[in-house]
Amino acid sequence: MTFKKINRDRIIRFLKFSVHLFQVIYEKLTSGDKDYFLPFKYDHIQHYYGKDCLDIGAGTGRFSLYLQDQGHTITPIDVVDKAIEEIDLDIFDGQNINKADKSFSTSIFMFVLHHTDTQVELLKEAARVTRDYIIVAEDIVESRLDKMFGNIHLNTSPWAKGNNSFRSKKEWIELFSKLNLELVEINDIPIHIYPIYPVNRTIFVLKPI
Ligand SMILES: C[S@@+](CC[C@H](N)C(=O)[O-])C[C@H]1O[C@@H](n2cnc3c(N)ncnc32)[C@H](O)[C@@H]1O
Repeated sequence: MTFKKINRDRIIRFLKFSVHLFQVIYEKLTSGDKDYFLPFKYDHIQHYYGKDCLDIGAGTGRFSLYLQDQGHTITPIDVVDKAIEEIDLDIFDGQNINKADKSFSTSIFMFVLHHTDTQVELLKEAARVTRDYIIVAEDIVESRLDKMFGNIHLNTSPWAKGNNSFRSKKEWIELFSKLNLELVEINDIPIHIYPIYPVNRTIFVLKPI
C-alpha cells in the first residue's frame, strides 16, 4: 500500500468520524436525552427480559420506565434517588438487596458496576434474587486511552465513583465465571454509536447456575 493511499484512508476515516460526531452533538442538542444504546439494551435481547425485572442502580429510572411501557413489571433500586417523577425508586445500601430469593425473573445492571466498589457483593445478590437472567451492560476499558476516557467519565459523572472498577472484557468474563454466572450471550455496542465517550461497551447476558 502506498503512502498516499494510507493518508487518503486516514483522511476519509477522520472525515467520517467528524461527521458522525457532529451528528451526535446535533442530536444531543436537539433531542434531549435520547438513549443511543436502546437497541442493544433491549431490542436485540428482549427475549431475556422476563415479566418481573429488578433494575439495580436505576438512576433516573428512564430505562425502567421504558421497560414498563414494554409490559414488564419493574422494581428500580439505587443508592441515591435521582429518579424522575413517574418512578417509585427504592433506596438500598449498595450491597444487600432486601428482596426474597428468586423473586425476579431478570435483574439488570445498566452501566452501574463500574461506579461501584461492591461489584462482587452486588452480583452475588443479583444471583440470589434472580430466577432466569442477569443483564449487565458495561464500559469495556482495556487500552491506556480507554483508561483515560474512563477516568474522565468517572470524575465528571454525578454518580458514585468506584476505585479501579473498570475491567477488560476478559476480566468481566473471568469474574462472572468465578461467581458461577454462566455467560449466555454477549452483545457488543460499536464504539461509533456514542463517539463523545469512545470506549467499547458490552452487554453480557448471564444465567445464575
Ligand atoms: C451511569 S448511572 C446508570 C443509571 C441507569 N442504570 C441508566 O442506565 O440510566 C450509574 C448508577 O449506578 C448507581 N450506583 C452507584 N453505586 C451503586 C451501588 N453500590 N449499587 C447500586 N447502584 C449504584 C448510581 O447511583 C447511578 O444511578
